[in-house]
Amino acid sequence: MTVIYLYATLLSVFITQAFSLVPPTLDTVFTVDGQGIGQVAGVDVDSAGDLFVFHRANRPWSSTTYRPFSNVLSNEARVPIAFDVILKLDPKTGRKISGFGSNFFNVPHGLTIDNNDNLWVTDTGRHQIFRFAKGQTTPNLELGVKFVPGSDQQHFCKPTGVAVSSTGVFFVADGYCNSRILKYSSEAQVLAQWGTVGGRAGLTPYTLNIPHSIILMEEQDLVCVADRENSRALCYNAGLKNSTLTGVFNRTLVPQGNIGKVYGIYYNKAAQEVVAAGVISLTPYLSGRQTIYPPRAFIYNLKGQRQLSFANITQEMAKLGQSLIHDLCTSRDGQSYYLADLDQNKVYKYNKV
Ligand SMILES: *[C@@H]1O[C@H](CO)[C@@H](O)[C@H](O)[C@H]1NC(C)=O
Ligand SMILES: *[C@@H]1O[C@H](CO)[C@@H](O)[C@H](O)[C@H]1NC(C)=O
Ligand SMILES: *[C@@H]1O[C@H](CO)[C@@H](O)[C@H](O)[C@H]1NC(C)=O
Repeated sequence: MTVIYLYATLLSVFITQAFSLVPPTLDTVFTVDGQGIGQVAGVDVDSAGDLFVFHRANRPWSSTTYRPFSNVLSNEARVPIAFDVILKLDPKTGRKISGFGSNFFNVPHGLTIDNNDNLWVTDTGRHQIFRFAKGQTTPNLELGVKFVPGSDQQHFCKPTGVAVSSTGVFFVADGYCNSRILKYSSEAQVLAQWGTVGGRAGLTPYTLNIPHSIILMEEQDLVCVADRENSRALCYNAGLKNSTLTGVFNRTLVPQGNIGKVYGIYYNKAAQEVVAAGVISLTPYLSGRQTIYPPRAFIYNLKGQRQLSFANITQEMAKLGQSLIHDLCTSRDGQSYYLADLDQNKVYKYNKV
C-alpha cells in the first residue's frame, strides 16, 4: 500500500512539474496599423517562425453576408474582398512583411501551414478550400465548388479548417452546416468521412455542432476537433497507421462545459500540450459582488486535463467592445502563443514564463 501511495505521489509531482504553473504573459499586441486589418479569422506560423494571418479586411461577417435563412452568399458579398487578406507578419513586432489574396476571397476563415510550408485556407463564403505552395499567390489545389454549398464529396458547406499530416494526408472540418470531418489522400481523394449534425438531444461522439477547428497529433495518430456549439473538443483515430481505425472516437480533449464554446484548438508539439480558445463570456461580468475577468485561452495536457488559463479579458479591453479569440497557434519552439481576436482585429502574443 505505502509503496503504491509513494509511487503515485512521486508520479503526480513529476506530472505537475512537467508543466509550468505560471500563466504565459502578454508580450505584444499586433494591430497591423494602417493595413486595414479586419476580423482576424485564422493564424499560423511557418517554419521560419513568421506569423500568417487570414483576415476579413473591410468585410466583417454580418447578418447580410448570406441570403436570409440560406448558406448562399448575398449578391453584395459575392464581390471578393479587394484587399490582401493573407498577411505575413514579423513575429516580434507584428509589422507586415508581405501580403496577398486580394480580389479573390469572400469570407476568410481557417488558415493552416503544413510541414512543407504550404498554406491552406478555407473560405466559408465560397465554400472552398485552397492550398498555396510556399511563396506562391495562386493556389495549386482548389476543392469545393465556388459559391455552391453542398454535402456530397464535391461540395462543402462553410468549411472551417484543415489539418495536414507530414505525408500530405489531410483532414477537413466541414463546417457550419454539415458538421462532418473528411479525410483525404495526399492526392486529394476522399478516403473517409464521419460526423453528423447533432445538438443537445442525443449527443454522441459522432454528433457535432459546428466543428470549428481541427488539429492532428501525428505521433498519437489522433485528429482532434473543436465541436464549437457543443462546447467540447474530441479526438478520433486519424488512421494514418491503420486506416481501418479512421474516425474511431478515442477521447475527449476538452470536456463539455469546461471553457464554454470552443472556437480554436492548436497542438503545441514542442511543449506537448494543446491550447484551446474558449468563450466563457465576451466581456467581464459580475458574479455576486465580484467582477470576473474571464480567461480566453486554456492549456491542456495531452490527456485532456486542464493545466492553466490565461489571456483574461480586461476592463480596458471591454471598453473597446467585445473580444473573441477565434483562432490561435504557437511558435514552433513552443514558447509563444498567438491569439487572433476576431472582434478587435488584433493578434495578442503571449510568452511562456
Ligand atoms: C487512444 O489513442 C492513444 C494514442 O494513440 C492509444 O494509445 C489508445 O489506445 C487509444 N484509446 C482508444 C480507446 O482508442
Ligand atoms: C487494424 O485495426 C483493425 C481493427 O482494430 C484490426 O483488426 C487489424 O488487425 C489492424 N491492422 C493492423 C495492421 O494492425
Ligand atoms: C483570470 O481568470 C481566472 C479564472 O476566472 C482567474 O482564476 C484568474 O485569477 C484571472 N487572472 C487575472 C489576472 O485576473
